[in-house]
Amino acid sequence: MSATDSTEHTRRDFLYVATGVAGAVGAAGVAWPFIDQMRPDASTRALASIQVDVSGVEPGMSLTVKWRGRPVFIRNRTEKEIEEARAVALEDLKDPVARNANIAADAPANDLDRSAGEGKENWLVMIGVCTHLGCVPLGQAGEFGGWFCPCHGSHYDTAGRIRKGPAPENLAVPTFEFVSDTVIQVG
Ligand code: FES
Repeated sequence: MSATDSTEHTRRDFLYVATGVAGAVGAAGVAWPFIDQMRPDASTRALASIQVDVSGVEPGMSLTVKWRGRPVFIRNRTEKEIEEARAVALEDLKDPVARNANIAADAPANDLDRSAGEGKENWLVMIGVCTHLGCVPLGQAGEFGGWFCPCHGSHYDTAGRIRKGPAPENLAVPTFEFVSDTVIQVG
């Protein structure tokens, strides 16, 4: 290798390294604002509650949204589904407690207390996680026309109450409220 070759080599390597460093600095400069926004406290706040527009959810339709990493089922029930749930005697329920975070912890699992309440009885909002071992149940399936968990065969009725199978509790109703006629806030 001649002296000239050696000089060129060194110069080329230097330029390459210098470019690499500039690129890295530039990337870091861009990345920081994003990282800053994603600090745990900010992301936790963002997930604490969500608002869901249910204006397009007609009777007989459902919506599944993600809240705090879990699915939440929102169902606009048909008259038939409400009537079926109301016709069930509390004594026939495997879990007689409403499991509704919006009312008393020992409230009974009657249909009204499982639903969004007076005037909104058609709406069910529930954590879509089977109370047995945590699978996500299928909607409008199973022997009671509500939800069915195929993992080990748990059947829930049209009010999300466990009726048959190994699951011990009704599907949990999270904290939620209608913040307008068509928007539900979960959490
Ligand atoms: S996880 Fe649903 S029945 Fe076992």
